[in-house]
Amino acid sequence: MAQDGQSQNIDALMAESRTYPPDPAFTEQANAKPGFYDQDPDEFWEREGRERLSWFTDFTTLKEWDRPYAKWYLGGKLNACYNCVDRHVENGLGDKVAYYWEGEPVDDRLTITYADLQSRVVKAANGFKSLGIGKGTKVAVYLGMIPEAPVTLLALARLGAPFTFVFGGFSATALGSRMQEMECEYLITQDAANRRGKPGALKPTADEAMDMAPTVKTCVTVNRTGTEVEMKDGRDHWWSDVVDGQDDDPKSCPCEPMDSEDLFFLMFSSGTTGKPKGILHTTAGYLAGTSTTHHYVFDIKPDTVYWCAADIGWITGHSYIVFGPLVNATTSVMYEGTPDFPDKSRWWEIIERYKVNVLYTAPTTIRTHMKWGTEALQKHDLSSLKVLGSVGEPINPEAWIWYRDNVGGGKCPVVDTWWQTENGMILVTPLPGLTTLKPGSATHPFIGVKAAVYDEAGKEIPAGEGAGYMVIKEPWPAMFRGLLNDDERFKQTYWSQFSDAYLAGDGARVDGDGDFWMMGRIDDVMNVSGHRLSTIEIESALVSHPDVAQAAVVSRADATTGQAIVAYVTLKDGADGSTEKLAELREHVGKEIGPIAKPANVVFADSLPMTRSGKIMRRLLKDVAENRALGDTTTLADPSVVNEIKQRAESDK
Ligand code: PRX
Repeated sequence: MAQDGQSQNIDALMAESRTYPPDPAFTEQANAKPGFYDQDPDEFWEREGRERLSWFTDFTTLKEWDRPYAKWYLGGKLNACYNCVDRHVENGLGDKVAYYWEGEPVDDRLTITYADLQSRVVKAANGFKSLGIGKGTKVAVYLGMIPEAPVTLLALARLGAPFTFVFGGFSATALGSRMQEMECEYLITQDAANRRGKPGALKPTADEAMDMAPTVKTCVTVNRTGTEVEMKDGRDHWWSDVVDGQDDDPKSCPCEPMDSEDLFFLMFSSGTTGKPKGILHTTAGYLAGTSTTHHYVFDIKPDTVYWCAADIGWITGHSYIVFGPLVNATTSVMYEGTPDFPDKSRWWEIIERYKVNVLYTAPTTIRTHMKWGTEALQKHDLSSLKVLGSVGEPINPEAWIWYRDNVGGGKCPVVDTWWQTENGMILVTPLPGLTTLKPGSATHPFIGVKAAVYDEAGKEIPAGEGAGYMVIKEPWPAMFRGLLNDDERFKQTYWSQFSDAYLAGDGARVDGDGDFWMMGRIDDVMNVSGHRLSTIEIESALVSHPDVAQAAVVSRADATTGQAIVAYVTLKDGADGSTEKLAELREHVGKEIGPIAKPANVVFADSLPMTRSGKIMRRLLKDVAENRALGDTTTLADPSVVNEIKQRAESDK
């Protein structure tokens, strides 16, 4: 097992023994009642599918499982936008707030009711239709956290157009290659996004990306910041020209009936090769899985004010800012900016203003707030909070306790939710009011989720007997249905190591009580601030720089970001390892992939440690990055190399 990068965290987890039983008063009112796990999973999902979703044609079969291919709610027809918006208005919830949207500039706010949302979505759908978007048209979305982001996704869902949303922090190359891979015909973007008081350009990046993706013939741009951008005749349109004058009568643009298994969207995510994987999600199972988990895990009531502080560009945002909460007719907060703009109390102001009941965020953000201290937080009334959620990376017990004590006032259950882009929905999680919590443990698989920990040989490791590979043995509704254009990779990556289970790529152990402790990735995938990045992707970006001969990328543990990227680089003859070169390489990676992929450290080396068969020994580079004694060096072609690198790394500190 290669959990070395997080060894300190794991040591802390192993020693953790605090428990927090549920508060009986919470249990009394909780959505998940005692006996929840005793239900028959198939009956549960059948009922949730029928009661939580509205169908144009009812489904006839709950699921089909022909490993590794799953189908759910077969024979059904439905529409995601109808389920998220129209039916709520029809059911008298038009005046209920869908989003309290908070722009980054102070006092830039909007209250969007379900009726407002419907009006915006119908107009956008009519506008998109006027440009030729219809059922099956593939569309890329490259937006920040503005109201047009959920509106765009809902409008595309209304028309039955599959989309891929690319996080606004990704580069032109990343956006272009994703659009090319999916063969997108349209792109929806904005001029620039507000970022700590300054506009960060998106449209110029989109322009560069469109040059790489010739299938994109039409681009719609939201004017968010008034930044001047180039508009290409015949290709580029302003959102206001396309959308504002359209009819907002829902009958003018009916919701397209979609098959349960029709492609809903694609989300690209890093895997263990340089090429991101296009993860496919279909319609009904995804909606059922996300909305059901949202209801039980966050204990959502009709009057709950819920805030998932992720970005819509990641799966967390798709599932738990847009689709899950809207199916449940929830009132959400959506925030455009960063936690420290204009100052570090912004989040606490937002919670106080909207009386937020549920906060869902990532350990990195919690640790950042921890670093900033409690002064800002203590000035605000956070007593509305009832449930706190964590997602994206292992949460260390210290951060868990800090979150519970300082943000939750010692009274809120913390739900540490484990899942992945491929999973679509939360898979391992406590249920508030039901589960005895343990700081650092994601505790219990959700109902019907057959999670286990396997050893190398594919044998289940019994509870309390050590760590191994996290696997899932049965399908779940929001499970991905494959990888775009690469069925071989789908089978190879997830279904080949063990013949009877999905390989998650994480290490885990189950303690004597049957609770799961997630230990981070065991493959070449890194998790930096909850963002998934592949070592090979960054290495490829580095060697695409004209001065770089070779690069090896590893991660080291970092107190705030969980993991941090360390790049070892050998330069071509004639290039010098100056401080300027170092900055240039970091910028280069930022440009190739996105700022989140910039290495925290770059170490220049004369050569990299290679085995005699020519493989770079990343394990040793990781030992250097983490300041540990070097592991076995006997297979190295030239053992002196690592010592030189070690000295170089020391002198760079
Ligand atoms: O390593 C696990 C970690 O994040 C990976 C999935 O990343 P991504 O597909 O980007 O989705 C993140 C948001 C759902 C997993 O393989 N991870 C996610 N949640 C947790 C976690 N690790 C430990 N505890 C968690 N709660």
